[in-house]
Amino acid sequence: MLTRDQSLHLLTEKLQNQNLRRHCLSVEAVMRALAVNFEADPEKWGIVGLLHDGDYEISKDDPKQHTILMHQWLTDMGETDADILSAIISHNFSHTGKNPPHNHLEWSLYCCDELTGLIVAVTLVQPTKKLADVTLENIMKKWPQKSFAAGVDRSQIAQCEEKLGLKLEDFISLALSAMQQIAPQIGL
Ligand SMILES: [Fe+2]
Ligand SMILES: [Fe+2]
Repeated sequence: MLTRDQSLHLLTEKLQNQNLRRHCLSVEAVMRALAVNFEADPEKWGIVGLLHDGDYEISKDDPKQHTILMHQWLTDMGETDADILSAIISHNFSHTGKNPPHNHLEWSLYCCDELTGLIVAVTLVQPTKKLADVTLENIMKKWPQKSFAAGVDRSQIAQCEEKLGLKLEDFISLALSAMQQIAPQIGL
């Protein structure tokens, strides 16, 4: 399995946009916290989160290639961990038609991907624009406001209840706390 350092190196080599890098770091943090919650391997789940969008810039004009490129790069580098390879592919199944999420690792990635965006959006409307000042209540207040962060697919996040057995508020709370712990690294 690739180390975290190797994964970060690959990410920074392939992804230049700072916001996208921060998105990947956010998903990594939430995935690590979810791994702890499910008594799984935080290192492995973190790497899945860190790398899930690593080919986003290069595949942006061809969404069908998103995740397929990363899968290829990882395979070329000698990654053989089937959980990692499969989980990365699974989050773009709507475009690739390949491997819809089917376990806790894959559903965790699928559900938290959009949630990190919502948490960033809620942070940016706080007076201080600091993650440290965001509360679960701040997020839940914005949850039903469809015009707020309209690009965030709430239904994808809400599947945490059915697919992960986590109440929405508990899922959001876990993600918020994970992101707060890396706030300086994501500029918030
Ligand atoms: Fe993606
Ligand atoms: Fe993503």
